Amino acid sequence: MNKLVKYNSCKVLILNNLFSDSIYFNILKNKRLLIITNKLIASLYLDKLKKLLYNATNNLEHIIIPNGEKYKNITTVNNIISILLKKNYDSDTIIISFGGGVISDISGFIASIYKRGIDVIHIPTTLLAQVDASIGNKTSINHKCGKNMIGTFYEPKLVIIGLNFLNTLSRKEIYSGLSEVIKYGIVMNSNFFFWVKKNINNLILLKSKSLYYCVTTCCKLKIDIINKNKIDNISRMLLNFGHTFGHAIEQYASYNNWSHGSAVAVGIIIATYVSLNLNIIRIKQAKLIRSVIIKAKLPIFGPKNISINDYINIIKNDKKSNINSINLVLPISIGKARLFYNIDNKVITKSILDSKQDLLSRL
Ligand SMILES: NC(=O)c1ccc[n+]([C@@H]2O[C@H](COP(=O)([O-])OP(=O)(O)OC[C@H]3O[C@@H](n4cnc5c(N)ncnc54)[C@H](O)[C@@H]3O)[C@@H](O)[C@H]2O)c1
Ligand SMILES: [Zn+2]
Repeated sequence: MNKLVKYNSCKVLILNNLFSDSIYFNILKNKRLLIITNKLIASLYLDKLKKLLYNATNNLEHIIIPNGEKYKNITTVNNIISILLKKNYDSDTIIISFGGGVISDISGFIASIYKRGIDVIHIPTTLLAQVDASIGNKTSINHKCGKNMIGTFYEPKLVIIGLNFLNTLSRKEIYSGLSEVIKYGIVMNSNFFFWVKKNINNLILLKSKSLYYCVTTCCKLKIDIINKNKIDNISRMLLNFGHTFGHAIEQYASYNNWSHGSAVAVGIIIATYVSLNLNIIRIKQAKLIRSVIIKAKLPIFGPKNISINDYINIIKNDKKSNINSINLVLPISIGKARLFYNIDNKVITKSILDSKQDLLSRL
């Protein structure tokens, strides 16, 4: 079951087991390669990946960075670029990003700025990176003023997804990936939403048929949006659903303890309350959203001590808002969402409060 999905000049290969298929590495023949990964992934898979890549070239080195979102910053970028320069990596080098979304975001960003752009290939190893972060052309790092504040648009040359990597992923990280999976269903495709709802336990248990269908569908849905984006910038914003409040949570937690997907799940819940308070979604549909988040074992409440003011203050710094107004992607029904502008602070405040009180459970 190997699948090839294409967008622009980028190919996305979806394989059940990356280590049993070396044929695709032909494009790396005689290239200078640099793998960027983290300590944890290196301990699990680096030797195996290097062995595979040696079939294509001996010119292969790696850089291991610390593990975690809090290292997705300019210091890490600067450290890696210093190594590249000191070791005379030229513009023919290919960077192989090997890890979750943190690694693909950092590696993509470096590839986009080093010597005005070198090639990057993503080998995503988390569910979240396979269904979302490694697909498309957004690269970013965090700044102390906000998440993903620095970044570029830069397409990878190739994305190679190996579902086998998910076998070592913690349950918490599987749930985190499911958050982005659910997001696609809510904003783009009701059939997929209901499929996910029905198959969520199979996905949590990594049942290969369900997993394969899920990853393939998410890649296709994201690629669809990216292709449309050439004409319509707004459609791409749909992918930010849940992210405004989600990013606020991640920033509030200083990128510790809260996975990206868990934060986005709470963001999805709060955004759904905003829809309810604006009367643009029916209670039954909002309840469906809440129930699928719970079924995926994702949180519906943010950090214990986060206040409404914490949310508002952080969001006002977010790139999607200016100081006086908050713009949000909001669900209208399952499978349909839209960007709404200038949402009243009072509505935002009430929605955060409703989510803290789990109002939907009583409706
Ligand atoms: N560029 C985009 O379009 C885009 C889209 C969505 C998310 N993102 C970014 O992606 C990041 C989140 O990605 P993530 O959830 O993959 O986080 P992550 O990269 O931090 O990975 C999560 C954890 O899983 C570990 N891990 C990775 N692969 C593993 C494996 N196979 N086995 C065991 N452990 C493994 C990692 O070391 C880490 O501890 C965020 O920074 C987010 O902003 C970017
Ligand atoms: Zn995300």
